[in-house]
Amino acid sequence: MPAEMRSSTRGFKRYYNPDVGDAVRMDTNTNVLGSNPAATRFMKEFEGSINNYPNTYSDRLRDTLAELYGLDRENFVTGSGSDELLDVSFKTFTEWGDNAAVPVPSYTLYDYFVKMNGGSVSEIDLTEDFQLDVDSFVSSGSRIMIAPSPNNPTGNCFRQKDLEDLLSRFDGVVIVDEAYAEYSGEGMIRRVNEFDNLIVLRTFSKAYAMAGLRVGYAAACEDIADKMNRVKIPYSLNMVSEGAAIAALKDQDFLRRSVDLVRKERPVLAEGLRKLGFEPFPSDSNFILARSPVDHTCLVNGMKKRGVLIRDFGSKRRTENCVRTTVGTKELNDLLLDTAEDVLEDCRRG
Ligand SMILES: Cc1ncc(COP(=O)(O)O)c(C=O)c1O
Repeated sequence: MPAEMRSSTRGFKRYYNPDVGDAVRMDTNTNVLGSNPAATRFMKEFEGSINNYPNTYSDRLRDTLAELYGLDRENFVTGSGSDELLDVSFKTFTEWGDNAAVPVPSYTLYDYFVKMNGGSVSEIDLTEDFQLDVDSFVSSGSRIMIAPSPNNPTGNCFRQKDLEDLLSRFDGVVIVDEAYAEYSGEGMIRRVNEFDNLIVLRTFSKAYAMAGLRVGYAAACEDIADKMNRVKIPYSLNMVSEGAAIAALKDQDFLRRSVDLVRKERPVLAEGLRKLGFEPFPSDSNFILARSPVDHTCLVNGMKKRGVLIRDFGSKRRTENCVRTTVGTKELNDLLLDTAEDVLEDCRRG
């Protein structure tokens, strides 16, 4: 008899896992300046004892984060990517069968983490301009909700006053996922002590250029953070990744250069896409969502054949015929636009 999966996970498929080879990756919103230099230096020089367990709750990293944001160590929970903290949020604050309110469109894995923890998803459409429909979230009856700001794949931030409105009116936990907030500005992270229902998620995978080391964290008031620390898997952040993250936080110059590059190149790329017939949406992040002038599948497959990966959202509701690309360096953006121009011609020829 084949082993039966748990009912809540039975429909699960494997996550995005493209055959990358030596393709240029414009599909994962990572940092186009390459690996974080301070983190890389730390790893080269690392001589700690890997015979020992790491600190259970990554106290040194939490202290460094506390210093950076003017908060306390006990406001933080660390983990293996912010994906782990999403999982821990649902594990800590939802019962089997509870409902979670998730915006459409937004990050694909929200659905997965809700269902993995036995919950069901209430899909709440964003407005025409991809903003929060606050009333719909409030009246959803859900126990927990997610507001990614900037949102993925749309790229835009939600209005600060809508987030504040939600935090006061939503009867449950509000997760504000700030995976891309370094690109957009402050976000809510310094304000976690003002709200007893706010969890802010951050990552080292994007602007800090450390996706391969899997480091993420949650910030919240001490009560929420303590409850999450009690639930998360102890030692889930390994000691090399923790040390590398501390080194990266201490080199804010690299972060500034990364953010400056995106702010400079994003409008140039958007204009280039527009000239080719795409309709790019406004972005506060290091990526752009754009409606394709030809069939999305033909475009994405054609780009892949020519060695450039972009992400296809064209079959999903609200992002019909749309693709998402990371904002590159000038050279990468030129390559992307030149390749797209050739592929558009191929697709039109049929
Ligand atoms: C909105 C959003 N949240 C969370 C994540 C997960 O990031 P991490 O690498 O920290 O798990 C991503 C990654 O693409 C993302 O786009």
